[in-house]
Amino acid sequence: MDIDYKIAVMGDIHSNHIALETCINHALTRNVDEFIFLGDYISDCAYPQKTMQIIYDMNKKYKCHFIRGNREDYMLNHRKDPDEIWTYYSTSGSLLYTYENLSKEDLDFFEGLAIKGFYEKDGFPSFRYCHGSLTSSREYLGGENENAKVIMSELDVDFLIGAHTHMQGNTSFGNKKLLNPGSVGIPKYHNGKSQYMILHGTSSGWEEEFFQLAYDVDAVVKEYETSGLDKKALWWTKINIHLLYTGEDYSDSCIMLARKLCREAGDEVNGLEIPEKYIEMAVKALDIRL
Ligand SMILES: [Fe+2]
Repeated sequence: MDIDYKIAVMGDIHSNHIALETCINHALTRNVDEFIFLGDYISDCAYPQKTMQIIYDMNKKYKCHFIRGNREDYMLNHRKDPDEIWTYYSTSGSLLYTYENLSKEDLDFFEGLAIKGFYEKDGFPSFRYCHGSLTSSREYLGGENENAKVIMSELDVDFLIGAHTHMQGNTSFGNKKLLNPGSVGIPKYHNGKSQYMILHGTSSGWEEEFFQLAYDVDAVVKEYETSGLDKKALWWTKINIHLLYTGEDYSDSCIMLARKLCREAGDEVNGLEIPEKYIEMAVKALDIRL
């Protein structure tokens, strides 16, 4: 590995500014040359403005590339559609809290970002990167997704970097690779350790190195309380806290169970809004740390 040009790749921060600082400090000790941020900067954890400040500071000090994720799209769509109803309930309370804590500057910053990027540098192979997929910020490229095979077979470079699944790893599709740095802020698996990746540019191309870092989860959890976010998205907060401490994600199973309980009781499920009592019942029925 003669040349070693280093790019730190970070995705899915989700307002976890404490984990973000841990990953950035770690990357700086490795003397990285550039940063790529893959979107989902905000929502789920408290004080999104603290994360945005770090993002702006990084942009001033280092060579950074930014794209936007589905959470930024939710914020931008909400700005465009004042009739969209978000309330302080578990299913949309965290989004509403986040929206109310972002500035016009933040939303304008998101609006200026694309959902994908193309990286080129003399002497190194080019690659592409995205949050969800190359065509949608919400698409999951992992697992059994048939479209992932199509996207990867049509890929015009050796590898694609994606985020959004919060699952760190490297998947081969024939002679192409899909790399995922995992999630900085709401990481799955690895006992909840914060995740990112460094790409090493060598004479034989790019080589990925994955990291999982311990950080101060207690401090992140404390901020749910000090910010009041725990009251604004009560049960959602509990699901997230469980995930932060363990890396186990109950969000989808909880929403599915809550919808089922709601339908069985003859109540209506209206878009995002599921009556709070069914979310509570679902959280209590699942093995979630309370
Ligand atoms: Fe995402």
